[in-house]
Amino acid sequence: MFISNSVEQTIAAGRTYGEKARRGDVFALRGDLGAGKTQFVKGFVAGLGSNADVTSPTFVLLHEYGDGRLPVFHFDFYRVESREALSRIGFDDYIFGDGVSLIEWADRFSALIPSRAKWLSFELKDENTRVITEGVAR
Ligand SMILES: Nc1ncnc2c1ncn2[C@@H]1O[C@H](COP(=O)(O)OP(=O)(O)OP(=O)(O)O)[C@@H](O)[C@H]1O
Ligand SMILES: [Mg+2]
Repeated sequence: MFISNSVEQTIAAGRTYGEKARRGDVFALRGDLGAGKTQFVKGFVAGLGSNADVTSPTFVLLHEYGDGRLPVFHFDFYRVESREALSRIGFDDYIFGDGVSLIEWADRFSALIPSRAKWLSFELKDENTRVITEGVAR
């Protein structure tokens, strides 16, 4: 468990994960609106050496950041309406491919998340405090 007291600390936590990330890793992120998932991804992508500007893939299903040490596939299931929409874009090809995948709101379609994925839960404590917990059961 990690307590973040600022957006910068959440970005720094993401950066640490990004620096250690390995080909094929899948990170399943869960937690309320504004809990810090996208900020974490921002740090993660920077930790992989990418200069990409990270925003939530809201109107498209995924963002790809290809300029770092490994390709990153950033999904957000919040507005995804069905599992079919994900199969149509070849979700499995991404997560079983040779990049690193991060999925916001992964618990919305947890059946699609492989068992080797690392789960991270983001909890909103107060305005600037977030609790990040690793390895939560689904
Ligand atoms: N300790 C903190 N860690 C992360 N974000 C923080 C923290 N304290 C305040 N914030 C603010 O909370 C918001 C987190 O937004 P972010 O987009 O990362 O959330 P999210 O979990 O991705 O939400 P959504 O479910 O809408 O995608 C930002 O506006 C950020 O400035
Ligand atoms: Mg987000």
